[in-house]
Amino acid sequence: MKAVAVIPGKPNSVHMAELPMPSLDEVPDGRGVLVKVLKIGVDATDREINDALYGNAPPGYDFLVLGHESFGIVEAVGKNVTHVIPGDYVTCTVRRPGGSIYDRIGRSDITSEETYFERGINLLHGFLTEYFVDDAEFIVRMPVGLKHLHVLAEPMSCAAKAVEQVFEAQKRLQVWKPRRAYVTGAGQIGLLATLILRLRGLEVFTMARSLKPSLKADIVESMGATYISTSETPLEELAQKVGKADFIVEATGSSSVAFDCMRVLGHNGAIVWTSITGGQRNAQVPSDELNLNWVLGNKLLLGSVNANFKHFESGIADLALGEVTYPNVIEKILTTPIDGLENYETMMKALVEDKDALKVYVNVAEV
Ligand code: BGC
Ligand code: ZN
Repeated sequence: MKAVAVIPGKPNSVHMAELPMPSLDEVPDGRGVLVKVLKIGVDATDREINDALYGNAPPGYDFLVLGHESFGIVEAVGKNVTHVIPGDYVTCTVRRPGGSIYDRIGRSDITSEETYFERGINLLHGFLTEYFVDDAEFIVRMPVGLKHLHVLAEPMSCAAKAVEQVFEAQKRLQVWKPRRAYVTGAGQIGLLATLILRLRGLEVFTMARSLKPSLKADIVESMGATYISTSETPLEELAQKVGKADFIVEATGSSSVAFDCMRVLGHNGAIVWTSITGGQRNAQVPSDELNLNWVLGNKLLLGSVNANFKHFESGIADLALGEVTYPNVIEKILTTPIDGLENYETMMKALVEDKDALKVYVNVAEV
């Protein structure tokens, strides 16, 4: 079957590859699920793998099949699979267990090992192909009423984990009730984090450089949040106007913005960094000021990557709640469909060049 792959380490090597049709027997104990791929989302991670910034082929291969944002329909299940049946719409988690204690308790998203195994990213083939098989424990059911949001389940799981991690960590404060949140970056993670925070009742200011009117601004405001163009109102000015934030989700992909956020966080507040910054930039930071404010304000900075089954479930539940709270808004993130695996060049071009694309995804097959 057809697959879209790169040669890790070789810039701009995206190409069409061949994979054998997978079989249920690849998974032991009757726990296999065979999924027909319908749609696959791509993001900056795929672009950076194609730029050879990271990514590794599975052992025995010189290519890596891309694609970690999956949406498909179950074709067949092993005899011990109960939570999905043929005909169900599903998505699939990305990371697979290594050997640490966290991996062994189903938390490979917080593995303590340096090497991580991620489908479509590191050491395991991804989903940008026609069919895949995986262990039932990684297959997440999507309610049929959300099938129009398809590939958003995976980015949503990352946003859900990031927000959840902050609430978990802030239990240290016993009575933490955040009111004001900033979300820096209005790409897919920023927009989905905006949704989650609005559903939790926070006042949310979501920022990006571009001026209004724009699709980003429209989506943010349809969710009852305020869109701030940082070319008009820089972060510090916003903080002076509306007050510092209790909660910041950083999702710009810029490490200097990640540090700038530290100057606008209120006492007892928390920042979660979600961007994978593949570059080599060196930003200057006001280290005395940050250190002092961090200590005197009992502040928290945490990083969050990936997501496990539970975060997919809570993310999907929030997509459902979001859909009834702000009808027909979330789907606006799905800006840029590409028809067919063979159009992988158009796909990469959209990822690299189309600055207005919020979500590029490939229509692989119809049901
Ligand atoms: C994916 C995550 C993954 C991370 C690091 C992101 O693009 O959505 O699932 O853990 O990249 O590889
Ligand atoms: Zn991703």
